[in-house]
Amino acid sequence: PFVVTESCIQCKYTDCVSVCPMDCFLEGPNFLVINPDECIDCSMCVPECPVNAIVSANEVSADQEPFVELNRTLSRHPEWKRITRPKSPLPEHEKWAAVNDKLGLLKR
Ligand code: SF4
Ligand code: F3S
Repeated sequence: PFVVTESCIQCKYTDCVSVCPMDCFLEGPNFLVINPDECIDCSMCVPECPVNAIVSANEVSADQEPFVELNRTLSRHPEWKRITRPKSPLPEHEKWAAVNDKLGLLKR
């Protein structure tokens, strides 16, 4: 499957959700995940993300490895709901798009 990685945190542009043929994105307070059991590896969402947050789980860099499991566990979070229509990004998304190492800010 493809996975959402760190750049999405505090940005949440949501352009990705509009192209997914499987509707496999789920939304939390400041991050989205892909349900790995539903993703069909079509890769259509990848170019949609303005901050390149979506990568193949097979090609994830070492520092983003925790996000493979996070996409799986958070897609089962009882309060994270499926999102199929884009919405406005989070406030200050431009500032946060330039910040690395945001995992500690992830709200669950
Ligand atoms: Fe959806 Fe395809 Fe992206 Fe998987 S790779 S999340 S199926 S758009
Ligand atoms: Fe996140 Fe990029 Fe989608 S910032 S919400 S993965 S378009």
